[in-house]
Amino acid sequence: MTASTFKTIEKPAIDKFDVTPNLDRDNVREFDWQDLYSELDWLPGGGLNKAHEAIDRHANGSKRDKIALIWEGKNGEREDYTFGQMKEETDKFANVLKSLGIETGDRVFLFMDRLPELYFAFFGILKAGAIAGPLFSAFGPDPVKDRMIDSGAKVLVTQPDLRRKIAGIIPELFDLQHIIIVNKDGRDPAPIDTQDLDYYAEMGKAPSEFSIVNTSQYDYSIMHYTSGTTGKPKGAVHRHQAAVQQYATGKWALDLHEDDIYWCTADPGWVTGTSYGMMAPWTNGVTQLIYEGGFRASAWYEQIQKHKVTVWYTAPTAIRMLMKAGDDVPKRYDLSTLRFTASVGEPLNPEAVVWGESAIGMPFHDNWWQTETGAIMCANYASMAIKPGSMGKPIPGVELGIVDDNFEQVPAGVDGNLVVRPNWPSMFHGYWNNSSMYNSRFKGGWYMTGDNARVDEEGYFWFVGRSDDVINTAGHLVGPFEVESALIEHPAVAEAGVIGKPDPIAMEVVKAFVALNDGYEESTQLRNEIMRFVREKLSTGVAPREIDFIPSLPKTRSGKIMRRLLKARELGLPEGDISGLEED
Ligand code: PRX
Repeated sequence: MTASTFKTIEKPAIDKFDVTPNLDRDNVREFDWQDLYSELDWLPGGGLNKAHEAIDRHANGSKRDKIALIWEGKNGEREDYTFGQMKEETDKFANVLKSLGIETGDRVFLFMDRLPELYFAFFGILKAGAIAGPLFSAFGPDPVKDRMIDSGAKVLVTQPDLRRKIAGIIPELFDLQHIIIVNKDGRDPAPIDTQDLDYYAEMGKAPSEFSIVNTSQYDYSIMHYTSGTTGKPKGAVHRHQAAVQQYATGKWALDLHEDDIYWCTADPGWVTGTSYGMMAPWTNGVTQLIYEGGFRASAWYEQIQKHKVTVWYTAPTAIRMLMKAGDDVPKRYDLSTLRFTASVGEPLNPEAVVWGESAIGMPFHDNWWQTETGAIMCANYASMAIKPGSMGKPIPGVELGIVDDNFEQVPAGVDGNLVVRPNWPSMFHGYWNNSSMYNSRFKGGWYMTGDNARVDEEGYFWFVGRSDDVINTAGHLVGPFEVESALIEHPAVAEAGVIGKPDPIAMEVVKAFVALNDGYEESTQLRNEIMRFVREKLSTGVAPREIDFIPSLPKTRSGKIMRRLLKARELGLPEGDISGLEED
């Protein structure tokens, strides 16, 4: 069956609610980003700052008393903040940073759970002209160390339990000058280390007005580390001007309207959690829910019911877990406020799109983008029929292509490299400290996404797979090299190769092949110990779910591990060209 033979879903749920879609995608003829730029507010000095666009422009205007943030804590706590209050908290945090000597372009990192203070600190960093670096709170010490050292971060904002988790690496962070501890509601009974700063004490001393540093649209605002096939994760750096595309796609792809209650389930440690868990809703002046708790089907439905969520942006693994929990569970909740649901991060299987229709009354709208693209590039819009399994059509002002290895466009229906014409507004502007890697992503007049895809006769794009060895587990990209490096630090491990193994829920799970050093015998106990070792170093999501012991790893003559061969053997697929295989 070819992609375009999938049945389209003609009637997205918007009919139910009498809301005109923000974008009539199939009838966009002329488009100019300048029109969108003029919808931004800009700084009085002519500059552009994401914090001004997301917070201050509303706090200074008619939305001052509108709720910006509804926070539900993991213990059921509730806090609401208006745009006016958000301005005050973020102004205070910018003053805290200034009092610590933070200058334009300095890196300030966040290693926290989804607490309101994370959001205040984030925008305070931007107001101070610094670059925010959010870290996923499930990370172990190694990923935090790599990112903090590479970025040369001067300040780390964290919480007591996470501070303890990474205590061992702190002495290695030579650029780090201050640690600010957020002990939310005194949740942690241990006293704050005397060399650290107490967030609340510092905020108590800080003036509640701050004049935003006059950053330009080209200044850096955020960096998110992302994994590739080789080497350590690279810090993709974004500019303040990304705000325009985050604002526009909030309207077009998520169909945000003035009165929506929006919920993005992504963590701000990943790009979806900042571009769409902060920027898109707030630049549009929309109220959003932040839920600190983790995944549980009933708890998630309850959030929608309790907070009357209207627009919900989530991820395929979560949707598959909801499907697994059963169709009875959503029936126990009133989900009638929902009017638009979308998904990103991994392929959304057609069954999941259709399941949405039967279980929650509307299909999921898949969209596609990357850390590097900064914002949604391709989407199923409220105005269009969905083709289940497709990522939809490019947003206005963005040109996507499918090219062969000579960068020639291939005809509709043919698989090729998914590429983007450079210079869309939210395009990343570098990998920190790695300009050669950055430059290598641009070839033949295109930005190479690393994905394979095809486009059908009607202009819908269909994801085919990755063109590299990067593993996508539950929507998180994992570089095999990172896991292999952690594995070989275990004394029993001589060499290691890591692949993504298909999984019905997480799409892929990390699987390792390990050759042991002399003197070690394979055993279940050793396997578990190695798994635990990597889990503690990296994080649970990244550590191998399976380990196979093998006598030696297949390598090329130049000594590179042939992960493709490991994968082909694991899946029982043809081994392909193995002429480069090293003879034992
Ligand atoms: O392989 C694609 C997959 O996730 C990659 C981007 O991951 P990351 O940089 O972590 O960005 C996450 C924010 C979206 C892509 O190169 N991916 C993303 N969306 C989709 C997808 N794969 C299939 N379908 C999608 N809708």
